[in-house]
Amino acid sequence: MADDLSHQLTQTTSGQFVTNCWYVALWASELPADGLVARTLLGRPVLLFRRQDGTPAAMDDTCSHRFAPLSMGKKLPGDRIQCPYHGLEFNAEGRCVHNPHGNGAIPQAAHLRGYTLVERHQMIWIWMGERPADPSKIPDYSCLDAADPLHATDPGYMMMNAHYELVIDNLLDLSHISYLHAGILGSAGTIVADIEVTQNDDIITVARRSTDGETPGMLKMMGAVEQGDQWTVISWMPPSCLLLNFGCGPTGRPMEEGTGYYAIHLLTPETDRTTHYCFSAVRWNVQTTDRALNEEVRANIAKMRRFAFVEQDGPVIEAQQRRMDAATTPLQPVLLSIDAGPVQYQRILRRMLADDR
Ligand code: FES
Ligand SMILES: [Fe+2]
Repeated sequence: MADDLSHQLTQTTSGQFVTNCWYVALWASELPADGLVARTLLGRPVLLFRRQDGTPAAMDDTCSHRFAPLSMGKKLPGDRIQCPYHGLEFNAEGRCVHNPHGNGAIPQAAHLRGYTLVERHQMIWIWMGERPADPSKIPDYSCLDAADPLHATDPGYMMMNAHYELVIDNLLDLSHISYLHAGILGSAGTIVADIEVTQNDDIITVARRSTDGETPGMLKMMGAVEQGDQWTVISWMPPSCLLLNFGCGPTGRPMEEGTGYYAIHLLTPETDRTTHYCFSAVRWNVQTTDRALNEEVRANIAKMRRFAFVEQDGPVIEAQQRRMDAATTPLQPVLLSIDAGPVQYQRILRRMLADDR
């Protein structure tokens, strides 16, 4: 186990990303019908926009002539993008289709790389690898499609100034909720927990259950029992999407008798030191039909989660990254029982990286 994790600590500085897989480019609601969106993904500047029929499109955001960002240009009729600098035009697949200069010839090297996008589960998914995109491999977030909007928080976003694997490590070892998020998401009662790690194809699931403890503030706010069993069951879907069932219920009773939410965590490397972090939450077994109360709970969940990520996880993960970067000798992590999930996903990610190359 030690070898795997120390390997990870050095790998996180490498800037290598798995490319033949799906990442969330952005929430679908962040891509307007008109207008151009610039976002760096896996270290590449990418231009995203919608065609006239509403379907999303993406291509490299660096003009092949003198490298001006196309996102500073214009969208023309016919789903063409005009470079702001000297007017080359590109179609939605990145092919250069108009050169206003000279005899209008279009050099082969003028074409840009286009990317396959799929809009699904309220997200825009992007495939940046060379192999054919396979939409059947998009992680399943159908819980979001089925949700009553009253029970789902608005799409959230933050930038994490750390390698994305450090954020996965954070999420796949939720023992930290008892410390970093004490009171909100965890309590002293959630430290002692049964941990079960399972693998299904390449999906790693870490289930933590604790019994007869004080219910964390978030769940109390949702109308849960004051004292009882609590669980976090989180799945990592390669390369960097996670889905958590966070809930509680009466001591000794089945999970279905409790309440909680599905927490959606979507990580996409911007660079090897910055990570786009999209998140949302969908409640299940909601305890009240009172509309005003549900609106209030929805707003509180969004607020408390943003606080937890921005004010609690973010500062520690970013400081951890700085420590790792500043280390003058290789860091050797001490492994604990709580690291079983992170170690397993790392193996899969390393294999995917090797396959990708
Ligand atoms: S930089 Fe784009 S046309 Fe010159
Ligand atoms: Fe956290």
